[in-house]
Amino acid sequence: MQSSPAAVSPGIEAFIRELPKVELHVHLEGSMQPATLLDLAAKHRVTSVPDSLEGVRDWYEFRDFPHFIEVYLTSLETLCDEEDFARLTADVAARLAAQNVRYAELHVSLYAHLMRGIPAGVVFEGIEHARREAEREHGIRMRWVPDFPGDYGVETGEQTLDAVLKDGPASVIGFGVGSVEVSRAPFADLFARARAAGLHSLPHAGENGGPERIREALDLLGAERIGHGIDCMRDPALVDRLRETGVPLDVCPTSNLCTGAIERIERHPLPRMLRAGLTVSLNSDDPPMFGTDLLNEYRVAHRLGLGAAELTDLARNGVVASYLDGSVERALLAEIDEVLERWSGQ
Ligand code: HPA
Ligand code: ZN
Repeated sequence: MQSSPAAVSPGIEAFIRELPKVELHVHLEGSMQPATLLDLAAKHRVTSVPDSLEGVRDWYEFRDFPHFIEVYLTSLETLCDEEDFARLTADVAARLAAQNVRYAELHVSLYAHLMRGIPAGVVFEGIEHARREAEREHGIRMRWVPDFPGDYGVETGEQTLDAVLKDGPASVIGFGVGSVEVSRAPFADLFARARAAGLHSLPHAGENGGPERIREALDLLGAERIGHGIDCMRDPALVDRLRETGVPLDVCPTSNLCTGAIERIERHPLPRMLRAGLTVSLNSDDPPMFGTDLLNEYRVAHRLGLGAAELTDLARNGVVASYLDGSVERALLAEIDEVLERWSGQ
């Protein structure tokens, strides 16, 4: 199901736009606009994707999570050369900056490119070129989190990490695992190697695979943040642990609706997670595939019952959970507080 934009009052809309934001859970390739997909498909004569905007819209109606992953991986076939990766990154950066996103940590589906015979160097050259340009042009900072599909097995993870350690630039700050959620146990040694190389452990866990996946991520992968993690709400002891340790969760409400992880947006656990004292940030995951963006996720959060102060908490949590430098982090937190103060005084 595609989501339609959530409507909020003009006052809250202005507040959400004014709030300086970070995105900690967004997939670079899952941020490709339909028009870009069509252009790249035409450029490379890729016939596995639809050839019209209406076709793409229908294609993005996901039956369930595995179907979403299938469509996601097929859409990646349109990314072939350095210029494609640079173009995608430039577009994604401009759209984030236009939402007043100051900093983003983007997952890059590196293994999905390696398995198609595209060298890691091609991917990194393209995205790095555009990242540097975007920082100059829009002032937005971006960092990378290469990942691999867990259901493809540990060897794919090993190949991905090898490629990162050989060709990855300094702007790679983490390592992740995604796709259909399988046990995280086989990836313990792999993530130990990533952490030893200075990469942060940023796995998806508990998106739809149950609380046990989150425990594995914490105990076996040394997870420093949990991608999604909404299934923790099925396990009170795990909620206590996450609150006590302060491990942040990157929550993506519209994604959860569109992939079938939740049945109705009204039932999304975000408000309960926040009020349980969890360090929750708000994120868009694969925005055009779900008919959303980060501004819209803040509107959705508001419609779930969160007022300006709680939206500010989500924005602050994102900054605190990010890998921004300390001085930039402090300045951004001060700016966020100023926006809330101004808004509260109106
Ligand atoms: N979950 C897991 N893997 C993914 C996702 C997601 O939301 N998006 C792209 N790969
Ligand atoms: Zn994700």
